[in-house]
Amino acid sequence: MKDMTQSYPVDTSVKPDVKAFFDPATNTISYVVKDPNSNACAIVDSVMDIDYAAGRITYDNADEIIAYVQDQGLDVEWLIETHVHADHLSAAPYIQSKVGGKIGIGENIVVVQDVFGKVFNEGTEFQRDGSQFDRLFKEGDTYQIGGLTAFAMHTPGHTPACMTHVVGDAAFVGDTLFMPDGGSARADFPGGDAGVLYDSIQKVLALPDETRLFMCHDYGPNGRDIEWETSVAAEKEHNIHVGGGKSKEDFVKFRTERDAQLDMPRLIIPSLQVNMRAGQMPPKDEQGDVFFKVPVNKL
Ligand SMILES: [Fe+2]
Repeated sequence: MKDMTQSYPVDTSVKPDVKAFFDPATNTISYVVKDPNSNACAIVDSVMDIDYAAGRITYDNADEIIAYVQDQGLDVEWLIETHVHADHLSAAPYIQSKVGGKIGIGENIVVVQDVFGKVFNEGTEFQRDGSQFDRLFKEGDTYQIGGLTAFAMHTPGHTPACMTHVVGDAAFVGDTLFMPDGGSARADFPGGDAGVLYDSIQKVLALPDETRLFMCHDYGPNGRDIEWETSVAAEKEHNIHVGGGKSKEDFVKFRTERDAQLDMPRLIIPSLQVNMRAGQMPPKDEQGDVFFKVPVNKL
């Protein structure tokens, strides 16, 4: 295979500290990734808690991360969203309000905003230019976390705006890959594409073999304990959907058939309305109250 890493500033000799936070309610893993030579850090894929049946928002998960960065004396420089999640709500603006940092996502957020702006009939006051975010990453963009140089790889397929963020020997893959025994994420959301996802996975697997890969989700398949860290080498060899050199044709057939049987994620309706706004709640009404919409037969 052609070396797809040559244009990226990959340096696996740099080993950032990575602290994981698991949310059992949504099986999401959030991360604090820290420059080993300074107090600078980035927070990846934070979670805002919701009791959807009650319409109640709380911040226990986010408060745990905030307490951690404050206890450790860290400077939060970035709040990274690997993509517009459909299964949990981002807490990025809440965390930003407490400890700072710039909120960043892939530039194709504008595609996602266009699609779901229509689905939720958001009207003209909902900007579809990504301006709710502080930074829109393009393929290959670099940014600093203290002295660390991080970069973003566009890895669409699960959604159009998915990015994998690489920091030294650590890569945060979002929903591009699951643990080897979990395979891959669905590719049937609007703008998703199984063939595109396969190509994106190959891009991740073209990183050096020893690259540490950090998952956004784990469901503990076959009763094993929750895990979130693997490596490029382990995924290449053992991933049940793409490992062992499985062909694109086989992957697309499998993924498409599997996706046709999946229910929508439990929290997709509130998640999209919040996450397409960079984690902000929908605008208040005249009374100052906030509501989610439930579009009928639109998803
Ligand atoms: Fe996702």
